[in-house]
Order: sequence, then structure tokens, then C-alpha cells
Amino acid sequence: MKTLIAKASAVLGVLALSATIQAATVEEIIIERIKPIGKVCLQGDASCGSATAAASGGARSGADIVASNCNSCHGSGVLGAPKIGTGEWAARLNDKGLDMLVTNAINGINSMPPRGTCGDCSDDEIKSAIEEMIAKSE
Ligand code: HEC
Repeated sequence: MKTLIAKASAVLGVLALSATIQAATVEEIIIERIKPIGKVCLQGDASCGSATAAASGGARSGADIVASNCNSCHGSGVLGAPKIGTGEWAARLNDKGLDMLVTNAINGINSMPPRGTCGDCSDDEIKSAIEEMIAKSE
């Protein structure tokens, strides 16, 4: 009787083991099947290849855009541009509200060129550049 129990438990053990192995394999197959088609690719990631250029467009901060596109006029206040670091920004913000400033910056207003010469800036990037200039003027 003892040997029978021992044999039975040995068989059960083997069954349990094979069940675990099978479960792992099924799980792997499922994971393989539900893998996303696309992969997120960060700038500078070697595996991204040529996709990096497109991804890098979204990485600019408001400060980057101000430095590269807006500062040339807004840094010194040429042509009547509201100068960074002065109360001119608060006055315009109170007068028109942020949404209006963003719309005018996107479309251009008087001597302010559309998108402030940043032709490839998204609407959100223009907005963050404006927020940056306002923050620096408080
Ligand atoms: C070529 C010079 C120039 C550049 C470059 C420039 N601006 Fe301007 N901007 C102006 C001038 C001039 C005005 C004032 C327009 C007016 O009210 O007559 C102005 C006004 C603005 C205003 C206020 C609009 C309003 O309705 O009062 C915002 C916002 C603005 N600029 C954002 C930007 C941003 C963001 C950038 C960079 C992406 C930028 N500007 C680059 C010249 C420039």
C-alpha cells in the first residue's frame, strides 16, 4: 500500500510539473500574440532607426522654442513685441486671455508673424512657448 501511494504521488508530481510547463508555454504564446504592433521609440534610441526624426518633433519644451524662435523679437521687444520680463505680458494676458494670445500667435497679428516664424511648431508648442514667456515675465 505504501509503495502504491508513493507511486501515485510521483505520478501526480509529474502531472503537476507538465501542467506548469504547458501553462508557461501557453502564456508565452498569448503574450506573443497580443504584443502591440508598434513600439514606443524614444529619441536617441538606436533601435528606432529613421523614426527618430519624427519623434524628436514632440520633444521641444516651451523654453527651447522661445530660445530658437521667439527670443529674437520678444527678448528685446523689437517692432513693439511684448518684451520678456516686463509687465507687457501680464497686460496682454489680462486683456485678451491665454486662448486669444495663443490664437493670435498661431495666425499672426500685425508685425507678429504666424507661429512666430516656427513653421513646424504644433499649436501646443506655441502655447507652451507663450506660457514660458509669461512665466518669465511674472
Ligand atoms: C519677427 C518678430 C517676432 C517673432 C520671431 C515672434 N514674435 Fe510674437 N510678436 C511680435 C510682435 C511685433 C508682436 C506684437 C503684435 C501686436 O500686438 O501688434 C508680438 C506679439 C505676440 C503675442 C501677443 C499677441 C496678442 O494677441 O497680444 C504672442 C502671444 C506672441 N507674440 C507669441 C510669440 C511666440 C510664441 C513666438 C515664438 C514661437 C513669437 N511670438 C515670435 C513679433 C514677433
